[in-house]
Amino acid sequence: MSIGTTPEPRAPDIAGLRREAAATLLRNWRGSATVPTTALYPHQWSWDSAFIAVGQAHLSPRRAFAELTALHGAQWGDGRVPQIVFNPAVPADAYFPGPAFWRPLPRHGPPAGVSTTGLVQPPVHAAALLAVVERHPGAAADAAVRRLYPRLARSHDYLFDRRRVASGLVGIVHPWESGLDNSPSWDEPLGAVDPGLADDIAVLRRDLRHADAGHRPTDDDYARYMGIVAAYRDRGYADDDLLSLPFCTVDPLFCAVLAWSEHALAALARRIGVDPGRHVERARELTHQIHTRLFDPVLGCYVALDARTGRPLAKRTVSGLVPLLLPGGHRSALLATLTGPAFAAPGVRGVPSYDLTAADADPRRYWRGPTWLNTTWLLWRALLAHGETGHAARLAADMVGLVAGAGFREYFHPVTGEGLGSDHFSWTAALLLDVLAREPEGQGWQR
Ligand code: SER
Repeated sequence: MSIGTTPEPRAPDIAGLRREAAATLLRNWRGSATVPTTALYPHQWSWDSAFIAVGQAHLSPRRAFAELTALHGAQWGDGRVPQIVFNPAVPADAYFPGPAFWRPLPRHGPPAGVSTTGLVQPPVHAAALLAVVERHPGAAADAAVRRLYPRLARSHDYLFDRRRVASGLVGIVHPWESGLDNSPSWDEPLGAVDPGLADDIAVLRRDLRHADAGHRPTDDDYARYMGIVAAYRDRGYADDDLLSLPFCTVDPLFCAVLAWSEHALAALARRIGVDPGRHVERARELTHQIHTRLFDPVLGCYVALDARTGRPLAKRTVSGLVPLLLPGGHRSALLATLTGPAFAAPGVRGVPSYDLTAADADPRRYWRGPTWLNTTWLLWRALLAHGETGHAARLAADMVGLVAGAGFREYFHPVTGEGLGSDHFSWTAALLLDVLAREPEGQGWQR
């Protein structure tokens, strides 16, 4: 290349990307489940495993079913599926907060000898299982559904029975439960939380050994995260009086994914001859609540609610676009926001985690601006379901282009494409495999 010329954008090497994606998932496989990435997240994470199963469906359905089975093996007596299942072979201080910070676990906790956190994560698992089963129907799939359906149904029962907040919506009690830890939606409720371990937080954190501090939540965020963990743990992870916890919010992504997965549970129930009625009804009712209680017509998207104060948390985040997965609702407004200046200005790739025109957007910091593959994938699935094939193809090309440019990173700068967070990231690999498998071959993968 001579100096002064701009290189022609090259078509991504699709076969090479498939090989590298498979190698990433193999590298992170631990015999019965997959770590999100080796150093930063050395245990099993709940919603990561669901996305990983979606990708494993294209490599090894046996591992896809094993992944979900291992996770549900740690299901609590009360039905909750834990956010993290700790691997006892990993040193206790490899991850913060490690097993010691979550103890004592209550009688309604995990099976004896299993160590977990006491939180949950967005319940995308039934939808993931359905995706695997639809790709590989047959005896192994039927056996997996028979094994997993009762556990999935119990985990949804837990959310609907124990986590319902006054409005009829399902609440979360920690930003970690949203999966979007430091989303701007949580700034206001988190600001009211007493920081725990504030003096020691910088010493205790392990994440900054493996990722740039400018890509991660701040020490102040972490101090408050620990304050909430301590309060929930000290009441034995009881959900009797959710509004007296230091943090209790309703998140559009969490609720939308739950309703989406409830539809998937109905489909899974039908496959094994179980009456799907209660799943259909719960999905319908929750969808109605989401559409009527969480939509903000000024922002053109759904917003979170602070369940303790009743206040809407009026931020335009990717979470507020995810109800596009559901039937009905404010579809054209949502589509306009998704394709408008906040999330899709010229040059922006994928769906950024936060409105890039907002004054406090930070395109390198975790959930405050970067593009992630999992949320972009959810919106790609939503667009495909609504027949919005043009917009879906754009997102697919963006996902492929980001990974081709920067590798299997945890997240990406939405404008420059710079790779951020950790490398060799499992759900990036898994979901890319799914995109490559579902989009028509030979479309060139270029915008
Ligand atoms: N995302 C969290 C972390 O950064 C935990 O779920 O460790």
